[in-house]
Amino acid sequence: MKIELNGVSRSYRNGSNAAVNALNKVNLTIEQGSFICIMGVSGSGKTTLLNLIGAIDVPTEGRITYDGIDISRLSDAKRSSFRNENIGFLFQDYALIEYRSVEDNLKLPLYFSEHRPGEFDKIVTDRLRMLDMSDFRKRKVNTLSGGQKQKVALARALVCNPSVILCDEPTGALDSASTKEIIELLLRLKDKGITIVVVSHDPVFTQYSDRNLLIKDGVVSEIQN
Ligand SMILES: Nc1ncnc2c1ncn2[C@@H]1O[C@H](COP(=O)(O)OP(=O)(O)OP(=O)(O)O)[C@@H](O)[C@H]1O
Ligand SMILES: [Mg+2]
Repeated sequence: MKIELNGVSRSYRNGSNAAVNALNKVNLTIEQGSFICIMGVSGSGKTTLLNLIGAIDVPTEGRITYDGIDISRLSDAKRSSFRNENIGFLFQDYALIEYRSVEDNLKLPLYFSEHRPGEFDKIVTDRLRMLDMSDFRKRKVNTLSGGQKQKVALARALVCNPSVILCDEPTGALDSASTKEIIELLLRLKDKGITIVVVSHDPVFTQYSDRNLLIKDGVVSEIQN
C-alpha cells in the first residue's frame, strides 16, 4: 500500500504547560516495497512519527492515508483492525511476552484477526521457517538471546501478512552480528514487496535503505546520498 502523510502534526499538552510540538507539518510519501530510514537524535520525534504511521496514535492536524484510506478518520475499533491486518511492528525491547513460548507469542495477533484457529499452527510453522527459527518454537522467550528474541518479534510481525513493517530502533539492544542478521532479514522481506520503515539514531541502516530522511525537532527532511 502507498502511505501518504499530508501536513501531519502532533502536539502534546502536559497539564498547564505549553503544548509540545512533537511533529510539525510532515509531508511524506512512502511507496510500497521501499526501505526507508528516518534518522534523528533522542527527542526529535521518531517514535511519535512511527506511532502515527502505525495507526497507534492519531495526528492533531493533517491526514495519513493508506492507498487513499484516511486512517486517522477511522473509529478506534476500525483503526485497530486496520493495524492488525496491515502493519507489523518491531521495537527495541521486542515487546514479547517473556514467560510464554515462541509459539504462543506468534499466535497472539492471530486471535485478533480473521484467521480461523485451525489455521494458526500452519501460519506459525511457516513464519518460523521463513526466519530459520523452527527449532525455537516451544522455547520460552526468556531463554532466548536478544538477537533470537528480535527474530521472534519479526516472525510475530509477519503473522498477519502486513504490507508494511515499522521498526523503532530495532537493533538498539543488539550486538553487531545480530544487527546485521536483522537487517538482512528486513532486506529479504523488502524483496517480497513489504515496505520497511526504520527510525533510528544508528546510521547503519542508511547503507541498506533506498531513501534516508532526517527528523529534527519534529521536522522531516530528505538526506541526499
Ligand atoms: N505522550 C507524550 N506526552 C507528552 N510529550 C510527549 C509524549 N510522547 C512524546 N512526547 C514529547 O515529544 C517529543 C518527541 O518524542 P519522541 O518519543 O517521538 O522522540 P524520539 O525521537 O523517539 O526519542 P528517542 O530516540 O529518545 O526514543 C519529546 O519532546 C517528548 O518529550
Ligand atoms: Mg523513540
